[in-house]
Amino acid sequence: MSYSIQYQQSIQQPEKFWKQISEDIAWYKKPQTVLSQDDSGLYRWFEDGELNTSYLALDHHVENGRADQTALIYDSPVSGTKKQYTYAELTEQVARFAGALKTLDVDKGDRVIIYMPMIPEAVIAMLACARIGAVHCVVFGGFAAKELALRIDDAQPNVIISASCGIEVDRIIPYKPLLDSAIQQANCPPEHCIIFQREQLKAELSTPRDHNWNTLYRQAEPVDPVPLKSTDPLYILYTSGTTGQPKGVVRDNGGHAVAMKYSMKTVYDCNPGDVYWAGSDVGWVVGHSYIVYAPLITGCCTLLYEGKPVRTPDAGAYWRVIEEYKVNAFFVAPTAFRAIKKEDPDGELLKKYDISSLKNLFLAGERLDPPTYHWLKELLEIPVLDHWWQTETAWAIAANPIGIEPQTTKAGSATFPIPGFKVEILDDQGKVLDANKTGNIALKLPLPPGCLTTLWQNSQHFKQAYLSTYPGYYLTGDGGYIDHEGFLFIMGRTDDVINIAGHRLSTGEMEEIIASHSAVAECAVVGINDDLKGQIPIALTILKDRIDIDEGTLQQELVNMVREQIGPFACFKQSFIVKRLPKTRSGKILRKIIRSIANGEPYSTPPTIDDPAILDEINDAFSSAPALID
Ligand code: COA
Ligand code: AMP
Repeated sequence: MSYSIQYQQSIQQPEKFWKQISEDIAWYKKPQTVLSQDDSGLYRWFEDGELNTSYLALDHHVENGRADQTALIYDSPVSGTKKQYTYAELTEQVARFAGALKTLDVDKGDRVIIYMPMIPEAVIAMLACARIGAVHCVVFGGFAAKELALRIDDAQPNVIISASCGIEVDRIIPYKPLLDSAIQQANCPPEHCIIFQREQLKAELSTPRDHNWNTLYRQAEPVDPVPLKSTDPLYILYTSGTTGQPKGVVRDNGGHAVAMKYSMKTVYDCNPGDVYWAGSDVGWVVGHSYIVYAPLITGCCTLLYEGKPVRTPDAGAYWRVIEEYKVNAFFVAPTAFRAIKKEDPDGELLKKYDISSLKNLFLAGERLDPPTYHWLKELLEIPVLDHWWQTETAWAIAANPIGIEPQTTKAGSATFPIPGFKVEILDDQGKVLDANKTGNIALKLPLPPGCLTTLWQNSQHFKQAYLSTYPGYYLTGDGGYIDHEGFLFIMGRTDDVINIAGHRLSTGEMEEIIASHSAVAECAVVGINDDLKGQIPIALTILKDRIDIDEGTLQQELVNMVREQIGPFACFKQSFIVKRLPKTRSGKILRKIIRSIANGEPYSTPPTIDDPAILDEINDAFSSAPALID
């Protein structure tokens, strides 16, 4: 069936369309109801279906001839480890670790936080939770203790699973002090912690709270997957909004499993047995969907890479991995290739490797800038495919639907909406805009299976943040346009979310931290262009009266605060002291104009500005910037 027929069906007859697609997974009990609404009017998929996501990802393949096929490859240049698990081995380990969780009384519906580096035990922990119906909540290992504490208080886990350390290139990052500090800061500490002890650094365990992963695992009995309702939550994944309080995106079991399997074919053209590699981290949605769930549900071999695109050991690392494991499909954020391009602009290192197994390269997580797109196209001579999605959706909203019918690509465009997603461009009043007009990107409800069903214990916030701006639509927070041939172009966020090296962060949250410095009266944080990371944050600060602090000292203190309270990956390195901030007469900070000035882009003085002379002051502040913090 052609892409356009499939797409039209998905929009005009979503229930018929998704019923057919849902036949592709092994339900315990097939759903009779495809789409429904709960008491608060929120959409639900496959309400009366029953399944288990861990069963679909593991046991089902063992039962159907894939027991000896490699399910998971772990390649860790930072620890010098390589390891492979067949479907039978992974199933056995997940079943036993699920048994270990049971010994700590973890049950269906209980929350389990996973705060781990990129090691197989993180994947095993996720699948073990799914097996017993516990709701996992993975927190990216680069987050500081305070961020972990916020998530502990919101998710209220019975158990936290962690490791003794992470490894950043050649630096050991002890996790246990971060975990202990987070638990100390949290109002709802967990009863148990399970710590996986890595060889590089052993953590001291505090009894009776902490348990050694290996001891618990050895003493446990394997357990079978339990039948769950399609609508039971599989996981919570926190993502940045516009405030310091992260949003707990809730994913169901049924809709998610259906969407994951459908996306592997439609978006990535992957079949059972293919080797699929998503170069992300299990702490992000890309890791959830495309390191763990989609490839395993499909019966692919998935790759877990604990390393960087460069420096582990060089800019040829990706090519080495693709050759070594004969990777067929590779998905990564464009920033990783900008890092490679910087170190190896002519692709000399690529010549050392045979990457002929690679059929397609996929990029997402941030805008794929045309220079990087063209560089990759010329270097690799395979399709280079941009696609657009977000934590909330779990899979691509727009992509080149190569598994249905490949389309031409246009540099800068994520191509077409994927079946299930009705994408519209709206003006501020909610009117649908014509082709080529830039506006707010909204998705007509219902969202297809796989997308968030609500925010954890806060449906009110879900409605207010996403559904209330344009009734009948989900607000993506991105701006962009559709050209007259239907190609979708994403131009960036319309809210205070910024994207640093493919990581989503809130400027509002950074402002809260900076404003808490004793010398700061007021501040504004904006994301400015960066050749490598896409965007990086900078802050403008106004000092309190009678405060005398050197600009460099303040900058160093603010940098330390953001590193300690969010994490180093926020890449906050620069702040400027100003006397005033540009504001509208009603007091709203004009962040867009600050961004334009910082980026050296042309801007026009808005008629609503309080005092235009402030813009000259901001220009002066940028030209006398303190040295960057390294
Ligand atoms: N645990 C602890 N610290 C972490 C971390 C983690 N999991 N991840 C990053 N950090 C730290 C780094 O050590 C670094 O600390 P430093 O400032 O003390 O040196 C800081 O956060 C910034 O790290 P990073 O963003 O990795 O920048 P980099 O300059 O070291 O590397 C890239 C640049 C482009 C190679 C890197 O950002 C990258 O690989 N990006 C891909 C991003 C990605 O996969 N995004 C997925 C979302 S889909
Ligand atoms: P996250 O929720 O962390 O995956 O971040 C989602 C955000 O990243 C989106 O809302 C976009 O702003 C941005 N993004 C993701 N993919 C793309 C893309 N292909 N092009 C442009 N922006 C993207």
